[in-house]
Amino acid sequence: MRLDRFLSETTPLTRSLAKRALKAGEVALNGEPVKQGARQIDPEKDAVTWQDEPLALLGKRYLMLHKPLEVECTARRGLYPRAIDLLDVPEVERLQPVGRLDVDTTGLLLMTDDGQWLHRITAPKRRCGKVYRATLAEPLEGEAAANAIARVAEGLWLDGDETPTRPATLRMLGPREAELAISEGRYHQVKRMFAALGNRVVDLHRRAIGPLELDADLAPGEWRALTEDEIALF
Ligand code: URA
Repeated sequence: MRLDRFLSETTPLTRSLAKRALKAGEVALNGEPVKQGARQIDPEKDAVTWQDEPLALLGKRYLMLHKPLEVECTARRGLYPRAIDLLDVPEVERLQPVGRLDVDTTGLLLMTDDGQWLHRITAPKRRCGKVYRATLAEPLEGEAAANAIARVAEGLWLDGDETPTRPATLRMLGPREAELAISEGRYHQVKRMFAALGNRVVDLHRRAIGPLELDADLAPGEWRALTEDEIALF
């Protein structure tokens, strides 16, 4: 790998600032100052420093966060803390949420800096499933529940959309507790589906993405790295 590329990937320096740092003698390769950005290095074996700080390439990162209430999945700072503000990792701004949750939705949020992996989960044609637990404003029981389950299985027309939702699975866990499994990621989809059924979601929690469940040991706001096996699920 070229030294100037290595510098731009491991420091906040742009290519042109990296060039200047090299010229100024701020960069050392295996203890010796080096000025040529075109110099080939082996990031595994060579020791590179900038202003005497050792540099290392970050591998790709894959994290699971138990998103709490009042946290936003945006990159820009807004009214609420961002999901990335909860992660204590280097170069946190490189991490992106794998699909968003509303500010008032809790549960499983995956974060990564591997764009291809993110795409495999979010690409519409992959139809990756997501399972949500919803608490409803109105009880949904008996014949009304059976009717709602059948309508969700057929597909619902949501206000302003040009196609019905894909067939989904609704399970009632109690009169106001529902589990909804969908394989799309439309804007506010779960809330809009219950609105189309004449109800309202008062609490929403994502339990799973594809075969990956939220780790029950993670309290809201806590996160952990995914295991190799979990990464390989997608
Ligand atoms: N559907 C919603 O309505 N909100 C979410 O946060 C996720 C899915």
